[in-house]
Amino acid sequence: MAGTSKNEVILIVDDEKLLRWSLRERLKEDGYKILEAGTGAEARAILASHFVDLVLLDIKLPDCNGLEILAHIRERGHDATVLLMTAYSSVEDAVNAMRMGAYNYLTKPFNVEELSVLIEKALESTQLKRQIARLHESMQSTQGLDNVVGRSLAMAKVFDLVLKVAQFSTTTVLITGESGVGKDVLAKALHLNSDRAMRPFMNLTCTTITESLLESELFGHERGAFTDAKNSKKGLFELADGGTVFLDEIGDMPAALQAKLLRFLQDKTFKRVGGSQDVTVDVRIIAATNKDLPKLVEDGGFRGDLFYRLDTFPIAVPPLRERDGDVTLLAQHFIDLFNKQFRKHVKGLTSEALERLDSYHWPGNVRELKNVVERAMILGSGELITEDNLPQLASQPKAIPTQQASVAGPYQLPPDGINLEELERDLLIQALRRANGVKTKAGRLLGLNRDQIRYRMKSWGLTDARETWVSNNAQ
Ligand SMILES: Nc1ncnc2c1ncn2[C@@H]1O[C@H](COP(=O)(O)OP(=O)(O)OP(=O)(O)O)[C@@H](O)[C@H]1O
Ligand SMILES: [Mg+2]
Repeated sequence: MAGTSKNEVILIVDDEKLLRWSLRERLKEDGYKILEAGTGAEARAILASHFVDLVLLDIKLPDCNGLEILAHIRERGHDATVLLMTAYSSVEDAVNAMRMGAYNYLTKPFNVEELSVLIEKALESTQLKRQIARLHESMQSTQGLDNVVGRSLAMAKVFDLVLKVAQFSTTTVLITGESGVGKDVLAKALHLNSDRAMRPFMNLTCTTITESLLESELFGHERGAFTDAKNSKKGLFELADGGTVFLDEIGDMPAALQAKLLRFLQDKTFKRVGGSQDVTVDVRIIAATNKDLPKLVEDGGFRGDLFYRLDTFPIAVPPLRERDGDVTLLAQHFIDLFNKQFRKHVKGLTSEALERLDSYHWPGNVRELKNVVERAMILGSGELITEDNLPQLASQPKAIPTQQASVAGPYQLPPDGINLEELERDLLIQALRRANGVKTKAGRLLGLNRDQIRYRMKSWGLTDARETWVSNNAQ
C-alpha cells in the first residue's frame, strides 16, 4: 500500500512521543496526512483550525480524559471518526466511548497492521456519513421556499403570491425587483411548489449571448440552419417540456426575439431556427428583470404587447431595506450557511455589528448582505462577528432632491414663522418614541444615520436609556 496518496487527515492524540512517532511513520506510508497532539488542549486547538477525517485518541491524557475530547468533537459537530486507544482496558470506558459515538476501541499494545485495516474501514464510514449528509442537504434545498428567508410583512406578501400562482401552472409570471433581491431563488421556489416540480427548470439569461445564439438556445435549430449547425438541436423550450423556463433579464431581449416570444406566449408554438414546422410544447414562463419595463416600453426598448402579456401576474420583490427585521434573520441564515461551508462555529453578531447592518441601505440587497457576511466570517476569529469584521457600510439616507429656491417644497412655513430648533427637538423626540429608542430606526424616520441621531440627542440633552423611549406613545 506504500506510496498511495489518500489525502485523508489523521490526528494522533497521545502523550507518548514514541508511540506517536511509530504510528506517524507507519500511517504516512499508507499515504495519510498526519497531525499530532500530546495533550487535550493541543488536540482542541488542532480540531478548531484543521480539517480532520479521523482521530486516534488516547484515553489517558496529561490534562484531561480522552472521553472529554470525544465529547468535544461531537458537541462541535465535527464529523471526524474517532478510534480510542488505551493502555488499561476498562470495560466501563469502552462502553462509554462507544455510547458517545466512538467508532471503535483498541487496547494497547496493538498490532499496527490491524490498526491500518481498522482505519481504512473507519474512514469508509466517514465518507458514507458525509455522503448521507450531502444527500440530506440537497434534498432539503429542493424544498423551495424553505430556503427563502424572510419574516417581514413585505416578504410574506411575496411568498403568498408565489404560492398562489404556483398552483396555476400555465400562468406567465413576471418577477421584478432591484438586483440581488432574490428573483432567481423565488423563480425556482415557484417552480418547485407547482405541479411541474418533477419536470425541468431551465434558466436563460437574455443578456449574456448574441441575438442569434439566444434564438437557437431558446427555440433550437435544424441541421444546416447556419454554418456551424451540423446537427439539429432542441432548444430550451423543447428541453423543458412539461416544466418551467426562467427568462432572466428579459428587458435585454433583442426586439426580433421579443416578437417570437410573444407568438409563443400566445399559442405555445414556435419554429426552430431554419425550420418550417411548428413545434408545440407545454412550459410555464417566468420572466425577471431589474429594469423598469414600463419605462422601457415608453422609450421604445421593449414591446408593449409583450410587456402586457408577461405582466399577467407581476410579483414585485421589495428591496432589502424595506423588509423590517429581515436583515437580522438573513445575516443569521448566512452565518449558518458559511459555518457549514467553512467549518466554523460563529454564533452570531455583536449588537453593534447588527446595528450597523440594520442601518445600512443595502443597494446590492440580499446578495450584498451575503457577501458582507462571508467576508466577515473569513476575517473574524471569535464566536461573534464584530464591527471590526464589517466594511464601513456608510448609511445613506435617501437623497432628497434639491429644490430650486423658487419652487415650494412639501412643507408650508406658517405665516408667523416657527422656531426651527424647537421643531427639530420635537420631531426627534417623536421619532425616538416611535422607534422605542432604537437610534437607527429613529434615524430612518428622519433621514439621519445613527451617529447623527446620537449627536443630536446629546446636544439636546436627551437621555440615551432606551427604556425611557419605550412607551405607549409608539404608533
Ligand atoms: N430570501 C432569501 N433567503 C435566502 N437567500 C436569499 C434570499 N434572497 C436572495 N438570496 C440569496 O442572495 C443571492 C442573490 O439572490 P438572487 O440571485 O436570487 O437575486 P436576483 O434578484 O436574481 O439578482 P439579479 O437581479 O442580480 O439577478 C443568492 O445567493 C441567493 O441565494
Ligand atoms: Mg437573478
